[in-house]
Amino acid sequence: MKFEKSQFDGPQFEKSGLGTLAVVGGGVIGLAVAARAQRDGWSVQLYDPNIGSGASWVAGGMLAPLSEGWPGEHELLHLGAHSLARWPEFARELGVDVFTASGSLTVALDAADAQDLRTIAEFVGAHGHQLDILNRAEIRELEPSLVQNIRLGLLAPTELAVDNRALVDALTASAAGVDFVAERVTDLDALTADRIVVAAGAQVPALLPDIPVRPVKGEILRLRRRPSATAPPSRTIRGSVHGRPIYLVPRGDGLVVGATQYESGHDTQVTVAGVRDLIADAERLMPSIGEYELHEAAAGLRPMSPDGLPLIGRVSERVIVAAGHGRNGILLTPITTDAVAALLTGDTLPEAKAADPARFETGRHR
Ligand code: GLY
Repeated sequence: MKFEKSQFDGPQFEKSGLGTLAVVGGGVIGLAVAARAQRDGWSVQLYDPNIGSGASWVAGGMLAPLSEGWPGEHELLHLGAHSLARWPEFARELGVDVFTASGSLTVALDAADAQDLRTIAEFVGAHGHQLDILNRAEIRELEPSLVQNIRLGLLAPTELAVDNRALVDALTASAAGVDFVAERVTDLDALTADRIVVAAGAQVPALLPDIPVRPVKGEILRLRRRPSATAPPSRTIRGSVHGRPIYLVPRGDGLVVGATQYESGHDTQVTVAGVRDLIADAERLMPSIGEYELHEAAAGLRPMSPDGLPLIGRVSERVIVAAGHGRNGILLTPITTDAVAALLTGDTLPEAKAADPARFETGRHR
């Protein structure tokens, strides 16, 4: 459905301070941008038919830019590390403790994976970040619930994990002055706001066809610890089984296990094969996982860009895009919020330069 302009011109959308701003998309990034803009003096409307229900609701919530570093991907490393550094202050301002783990441990089950961990440690270390290589005994000491035949571990002591759903709730509460409009926007021209921020995840190309973002489906499991079950790891655990990435992210009541990766359009059904692989791969890392309750299986769509970096910038006089965060939407929320806040004042955030959409030949449109 297209909006009639009159729908958005109601008396509740009164101009204040800096003018009117429409934020399209109510995931963590849209919510954070809306709350921040409102605090900065904009009169904000946030459009989403179902706030926080997309990728933000399904996310693992690990903030792991260092242990996911890889030679050649230095821009993503810098962007992620800058955002990780902003997270404690960002959370403090929310006034809710959304952190569920401190530190992450990536484990290698075979020689090839062990070599990859050494490569990551060297690359990330050369950029000034701390990662520690651990042997089997040290891993056992730190995380006794993990399988015993791990070859090598990579500890990232400064990485964090957040409860994605607590974050959605906290951000929604922090956006108290924002006018929430429970509608899907299908045409930006129907919006009359002075400025628009498009933060609609995998839906962005439907509004901005030149923005190169594609959906990559991910399935996760939410497991609850039963009273008799082995205690979960206290850090985020990452590994690879048969070439498939697997992670266990602590939650107050258990773990999130993720995540599959498929390119299958906008399909968000959970498949039997996805659940089977996640359970089997998680069990290779943590043999006692079968003792847990399988509480939920869910799927979401990662908004993936061609180069793995997000697109945060102006695409016209009126429109700013914040899209393509891929696997890193939660991690990159603080830096994206700061970058959009700067763009709304006509400035740019130097630390987010690599995310400039102008790097793609999308042309300036609208
Ligand atoms: N954020 C991790 C994933 O997309 O699997």
